[in-house]
Parts: sequence; structure tokens; C-alpha cells
Amino acid sequence: MTLCVAVIGAGVIGGAIARRLIESQAAERVIATRRRVERLRPLEEIGVITTGDNRWAAGEADAVFICVKPNDVKGVLEEIRGEIDGKLVISTAAIIPLSYYRSIAPEARYVRTMPNIAALIGEAFTAYACDERVTEEDRQLIRRLLETLGPCEEVEEKHLDAITGLSGSGPAYIAIVIDALLYAGLKVGLPRELALRSSAQAVLGTAKLVLEGCLDTSKVKEMVTTPGGTTIEGIYQLEDSAIMTAFMRAVESAT
Ligand SMILES: NC(=O)c1ccc[n+]([C@@H]2O[C@H](COP(=O)([O-])OP(=O)(O)OC[C@H]3O[C@@H](n4cnc5c(N)ncnc54)[C@H](OP(=O)(O)O)[C@@H]3O)[C@@H](O)[C@H]2O)c1
Repeated sequence: MTLCVAVIGAGVIGGAIARRLIESQAAERVIATRRRVERLRPLEEIGVITTGDNRWAAGEADAVFICVKPNDVKGVLEEIRGEIDGKLVISTAAIIPLSYYRSIAPEARYVRTMPNIAALIGEAFTAYACDERVTEEDRQLIRRLLETLGPCEEVEEKHLDAITGLSGSGPAYIAIVIDALLYAGLKVGLPRELALRSSAQAVLGTAKLVLEGCLDTSKVKEMVTTPGGTTIEGIYQLEDSAIMTAFMRAVESAT
């Protein structure tokens, strides 16, 4: 059976999803919508069908992604209500609980997800929660679709706001870290390109050490920090600036 997936609201995250779905061939047909259809041309060029007609897109699809801003979810759901009966609907919208979708269009089965912008390169972390009517067969389809964005994990819905504040917003925090390291590199006289490349690679390499090397973060710190060495001088300054508290506050506020 050929799989058709609609992405309603193909902006930043919806555009990344449409792109990954078609490039990975996880779906044979991908239909992307937004009101300013002309902005969908780059997706059209890679084989995505584009339209401004949400109702038609939802009607054609076996599964529907909703990727509009939280404030636009109600309008879109009301518009496509007649087309999603009995279908799987996967939303990326922050904040909005599963119960809200069901209250507007009760005949669909819903998944609430929180990816991040690294979906563009298949390196997002996506947490998702399913409503109770989602079947085992649906779960297989959900994984097939979400794994095109990067690693994914089913969680209880109560965790999704915190995931939004942590990994949903995470790329912005880490971009700040890379920027800070870049400036630090400039301060100690490195050329800009070299400072940027070495900062970004330090972030990437450390993340891989933790995720793939099964090392915990304290082990990484221990391996880098020799007594009386250079790293402990750096750590001393970081601890003094309460960097942990700054991140904890950021995630708490975003949540
Ligand atoms: N950006 C992220 O990193 C990220 C990460 C995780 C989750 N999210 C969530 O994903 C959702 C989208 O975020 P985003 O950053 O991708 O926003 P965005 O770039 O503004 O994308 C939303 C898109 O929806 C389209 N749209 C608005 N109303 C529509 C309608 N009635 N029918 C069809 N398309 C419509 C808009 O295009 P037109 O104006 O041309 O219609 C826009 O391109 C949000 O709910 C957000 O919480 C975002």
C-alpha cells in the first residue's frame, strides 16, 4: 500500500518534516500546505505535492501532520474535521493537550509530538504521547514517520511541556553555548572560522561521547580534568558564574 502523508502548515518544522518524509521515502506521497503556497516551491522541487487547500490535503492523506502555530490549531482542525475521521493526526504544536484535539474533532486518533529543528538534518530528539485510541499498528507507523527526524521516544503526555522547554528549545540554548565559545576563542586570539569550527565540534563530539560511548557526563569531565591542569582552571571560572543555575532557570521558564 502506498502511504500518503499530509503536512498542514509547512513552515520551519512542517517544512523539515515534509522534506525528511519524502527524502527518506518513509511516505510515497507527501502533500504540504500553507496559505502562502509560493513559499513551498523548494519542497515542490524535491517531489512534495504542494497546495493551499488543507481540506483536500487531509482528505487525500492516510496520516496528517498539523504543524501550525498553537493559536492556529483550532481553525485548522475545524477546517479539516470532516476529512480526518478514523485517521491518525500527528501534531507538533507546543502547549496544546491531546484532549483539546479530541474536543474539536473526536473521530480522529491523535499523537502530540515535540521535535526540534535538528529535524532538518535527521538529528532531532522527538518525544511523543499518544491518545488512548492509538493502536499498535498506528505506533509502528508513528515510529516509521518520526524516525526520519532522528531518535524518538514515546513518553507520558505530562512530560511534554518540560520536553518543549528542554529539547524543543534546546538548539537555541546550544547555539548560545557555541556562540559563547566562539567569542571566547576570539578573546584568546583564534581566527573566527577556527574558533567556530572547534566550538561546534566540541559540542557535537561531547554529545556523541555521552550518547554513543555510554559515558556519563561526570566521566567525560573526569577524563578531561587533570589535577592542577588547564581544564580545572576553566571549570573553576564556569562554576563561579553559576552556569548550571542559568540553564535550569532557562528550561524552567520555557516549560
Ligand atoms: N520551530 C521549532 O523549532 C519547533 C520545534 C518543535 C515544535 N514546534 C511547533 O511547531 C509548530 C510550528 O512552528 P514553526 O516554528 O514551524 O512555525 P512557522 O514556521 O510559523 O510554521 C507554521 C506555518 O503554518 C502556516 N499556516 C498558518 N496558518 C495556516 C493555515 N490555516 N493553513 C495552512 N498553513 C497555515 C504558516 O504559513 P502561511 O502563513 O503561509 O500559511 C507557517 O508557514 C508550532 O506549533 C510550534 O510550537 C516548533
